Amino acid sequence: MEREISVFDTTLRDGEQTPGVSLPVGYKIQIAKQLDKLGVDIIEAGFPSASKGEFEAVKEIADLGLNAKICGLARMVKGDIDAAIKADVDMVHIFIPTSKIQVEHTIKKSREEIIDISVECVEYVKSHGVECMFSAMDATRTEMDYLKRIYKAVEEAGVDIVNVPDTVGIATPFKFYDMIKELREHLKVPIDVHCHNDFGLATANTYAAVLAGADEVQVTVNGIGERAGNAALEEVVALLYAEGFKTNIRMEYLVETSRLVERLTGVRLPPNKPIVGENAFSHESGIHAHGVLKDARTFEPGIITPEMVGHKRRIVIGKHAGRHQIKKILEDAGYVVDEESLTKIVEKVKELGDKGKKVTDLDLFTIAEVILGEVRKEERAVNIDEVTVITGNKITPTAVINAEVMGKKKVTSAIGVGPVDASLKAVTELLGKKIRITEFRMDAITGGSDALADVYVTIEDESGETFTARAAGTDIVMASIDAVINAVNYLMLKKKKGRR
Ligand code: KIV
Ligand code: ZN
Repeated sequence: MEREISVFDTTLRDGEQTPGVSLPVGYKIQIAKQLDKLGVDIIEAGFPSASKGEFEAVKEIADLGLNAKICGLARMVKGDIDAAIKADVDMVHIFIPTSKIQVEHTIKKSREEIIDISVECVEYVKSHGVECMFSAMDATRTEMDYLKRIYKAVEEAGVDIVNVPDTVGIATPFKFYDMIKELREHLKVPIDVHCHNDFGLATANTYAAVLAGADEVQVTVNGIGERAGNAALEEVVALLYAEGFKTNIRMEYLVETSRLVERLTGVRLPPNKPIVGENAFSHESGIHAHGVLKDARTFEPGIITPEMVGHKRRIVIGKHAGRHQIKKILEDAGYVVDEESLTKIVEKVKELGDKGKKVTDLDLFTIAEVILGEVRKEERAVNIDEVTVITGNKITPTAVINAEVMGKKKVTSAIGVGPVDASLKAVTELLGKKIRITEFRMDAITGGSDALADVYVTIEDESGETFTARAAGTDIVMASIDAVINAVNYLMLKKKKGRR
């Protein structure tokens, strides 16, 4: 039978301790609602005694009536515990240092006093009818005999769950496994673990603890938190799923949740972040992409698909991509490509690659659609030779265009409210104002400042005839001009053919 593991999310508490992160109440509420939608069992909403704002945030979250239990952190002092209880939390998470180094330099109490304080605080929390979690801070640097004693003492005092924090992230999977196993055999209460990522082992350690009998995992979205952060919710949950454990997480919301936390905290996600990063299901062209196009399981874990976590698979076409490969990707996606168009598509991909742009399959499909729909060079009425655009905060945007129109060289210039406007005015000038742009739309295909801009335009000539065309490029001005010129060439070609 699948073992069920409870997920305790501390994005709003330890996650908020990420250097430089401070979340306004409204943001905390937004994240709490999203965590609830995601299905976490417990939300540690904050540290109520830390400030007035923090108290209000925890209270407002506790009053939302979410499905998840709401927890508030408290030091082992009455004032902290009272603040958490007053904030209406379902659970108070009390913590106290237990390792020699932390006791000596922070709390300065004897080890026996620490046990007594812990027992008193558990009893105090429980006397208010609220659940209690106890953390022996820096547990992984605390002697095992002492840890067993303090955890046993709080268990006897009625604690609901004990947490084993790897506060400075020094645990390793085998050692942590042994430690949790020993504690599991010694205690009856559920065990929760809280792993920091100082050596990049937070997920591995959390998983080792689960194998050793831990019942609950503490995690943060995107692994944010003190220093190198905490175990990442998305990594731990996906791994537990892959290894046959059950959680209440609705995995299809993992990417959505990750993006929200990234946006509201301002902590940028590295592209190679497992499960939710931009590249988590991206494949650079070559053997991998080839295999993935046939069966994604060839170069992906398989048990987790991008759709399962709300992600998308992308094939990134690098500048080394071969002609055959590009043809194959296009044909597999249903495009019929002649050799001449294929040459142009490959050139465009390499040109973008040389400029450092990562070309995704979506970019490639757009490039192909534009090129497959272009008028052939010898049939074009207008060809652009050179474009110069100047813009700036104290300069009126101005565009100058050199082109060949019906076999004649022409130069025009125009000013506009911005560089695109100036360029499009210069294009209409070039055509003797015989066309009007009736519709203009620009979309960014993939994210980032180097995204490929996809421009659609509809033009109308003097007789009221219209034509819609499209162009794509990383330069929004050039993509806009190309789209209009494409439309003009179509229109002229159509008229020429009509006259024949
Ligand atoms: O890392 C830590 O020890 C903590 C405690 C408050 C549990 O965050
Ligand atoms: Zn921590």
